[in-house]
Amino acid sequence: MKIAIMGAMPEEIAPILEKVGVYTTHEIAGNKYYTCRYDRHDLVIAYSKIGKVFSALTAATMIETFGAQTMLFSGVAGAISPQLAIGDLIVATRLCQHDLDITAFGHPYGYVPEGAQFVEADADLIQKAVAVAAEMGEKLHTGVIATGDQFVADPVRKAWIAETFAADALEMEGASVAVVCEALDVPFFILRAISDAADMDAGFDFDSFLESSAIISADFVMKMVEHID
Ligand code: ADE
Repeated sequence: MKIAIMGAMPEEIAPILEKVGVYTTHEIAGNKYYTCRYDRHDLVIAYSKIGKVFSALTAATMIETFGAQTMLFSGVAGAISPQLAIGDLIVATRLCQHDLDITAFGHPYGYVPEGAQFVEADADLIQKAVAVAAEMGEKLHTGVIATGDQFVADPVRKAWIAETFAADALEMEGASVAVVCEALDVPFFILRAISDAADMDAGFDFDSFLESSAIISADFVMKMVEHID
């Protein structure tokens, strides 16, 4: 199977490139894509740069140009749920865009006509992840992930996102990748390890825990690859 593994930042894919070892580098539209063979699969690996636009471009390129048949996203997120501590893993069951707002026309936050407020993630990949977590003896949280072009370091904004979308974690790429994958009919899996709590300390915590949390997420995603048929 041709599997895409993407992150948003170099730190999020560095542990993956280290694990696969040998790969070929391709340059398309200002991004690098790395292809290799790993555990019976062909992989295409890339980081998109931060945010919804860059991540949508990268996801679409992985699918349309490289022929990816499954999308695995690995990275870090800010916690909303008090159950989530730094380093904890959360897989998205559904995702939304918290900064998408045409409420002036009577629509709910996160919704545009012919779209949906939430995109549902692939149930089979989530089930696989639950089995992998059990095998690894790791705790894996599941929940709603809210995405926006905004680094949230503000308790008021965090509370608003929590209330409006019943979200458990937030980041800046998951929902845009989800929208692209759904439109192109490719199953997707968005995994995040917590780097901060989207509060006043978020900037400091993010810098401190980006690398360690990215490794936790990357290790799990590579275990997922080994379990995909
Ligand atoms: N990714 C990790 N932490 C984040 C935060 N606080 N806001 C947005 N994206 C994030």
